[in-house]
Amino acid sequence: MRKIHILSVVGARPNFMKMAPILRQLSKRPEFASYLVHTGQHYDDAMSRVFFRDLGMPDADFNLNVGSASHAVQTAEIMKRFEETCNQVKPDLVIVAGDVNSTLACSLTAVKLGVPVAHIEAGLRSFDRSMPEEINRIVTDSVAAHLFTTEESGTHNLRREGIADDKIHFVGNTMIDSLVHCYKLIDEMPLNGPIRVVNGTPYFLSTIHRPSNVDDPNQLSRVISILESASEIAPVFFVTHPRTRNRLRSIKNGDRLMDADQSLDRINRGLIYLLPPLPYLEFLRLMSKSKALLTDSGGIQEETTFLRIPCLTLRNNTERPITIELGGNKLVGLDCQTIICCLEQIMEGGWGSRGTPPLWDGHAAERVVNVLQSRCPLPTSSTPTPLG
Ligand code: UD1
Repeated sequence: MRKIHILSVVGARPNFMKMAPILRQLSKRPEFASYLVHTGQHYDDAMSRVFFRDLGMPDADFNLNVGSASHAVQTAEIMKRFEETCNQVKPDLVIVAGDVNSTLACSLTAVKLGVPVAHIEAGLRSFDRSMPEEINRIVTDSVAAHLFTTEESGTHNLRREGIADDKIHFVGNTMIDSLVHCYKLIDEMPLNGPIRVVNGTPYFLSTIHRPSNVDDPNQLSRVISILESASEIAPVFFVTHPRTRNRLRSIKNGDRLMDADQSLDRINRGLIYLLPPLPYLEFLRLMSKSKALLTDSGGIQEETTFLRIPCLTLRNNTERPITIELGGNKLVGLDCQTIICCLEQIMEGGWGSRGTPPLWDGHAAERVVNVLQSRCPLPTSSTPTPLG
């Protein structure tokens, strides 16, 4: 009997943590033939290869090597190359995760070939259509056959959009599965990297990379001023995404930061320490010991909620409302006064998540694959029927 052929897609950094636990589950079940596609949306070792290593992921079976480009060119190029992969493998199911361009491109390609799509982390909505990710989420959910939600807001959003109940599965958060799986490893790691200079000094950790915060020089300059003010309370480790780093030279305070003495012998108040993108385990360790996160990342809002670390989100909205409801995450925009006030409260203690979101228990991927097992009948013919 032919196995159920599954193509799982990763492309950009946040996809790796969401997909790794699913790949592990698929590999345990003999009825699935599991193949991994890496679109190459992220391609630097620090943005891609080190995550495969830290998460124990198998090498991709197909590398599409698309690289960076405008949204239209990148999306189109992924579609062209992924269609060839689909024609070769003839999958019975395509699994995509999150909200990056690779998610959108591969969902559209699959559904136009008549291949059902499973979307991990479906239903999240910021209700801000100026975010490229919001468009990717809405389009992917509108074509997916199996929609796996991480929090109850996702399920409600999908119902409101008219998605049938039997397509929606509230399973929890596979990114938290990765965190649970890897967290026990961080204390066994050799004490190298930035953590070696911390020595009990309280510090903040920051990552900022949203186009709305870094592409406009005025906005980025405000972000750096905020980090400068925050560093007067406790030193700041600023882990920079390539998008952010590429833009720092274009603003005065960013230029100053790039030229500052970055020797990491010890950490001092009043200073921002620029760090390159960090490997997953290294970042987890630095996050777990920090006083607070200042971020515009989606995933970090969830990880801090799970770890009960205070998180200030430098945005005006979030697609992850459970993180706010539980009290550990606060939307602060780029309002410096509010941010400093929050950081002072955090330093005095008494700020943090009041609980763990339902089903964020390290077993979401098992639930996903159980659903797929029950919903995907063993194929009777070897070729899915293309549309049209
Ligand atoms: C993408 C996702 C975003 C996610 C982020 C996580 C989309 C629309 N956005 O944004 O949702 O939060 O990944 O990191 O899919 N670059 C490198 N090396 C790399 C990759 C990128 O130098 O390995 C640089 C390039 O200059 C590129 C820029 O970063 O132009 C932006 O990369 P891109 O993948 O277009 O978007 P991200 O900002 O990374």
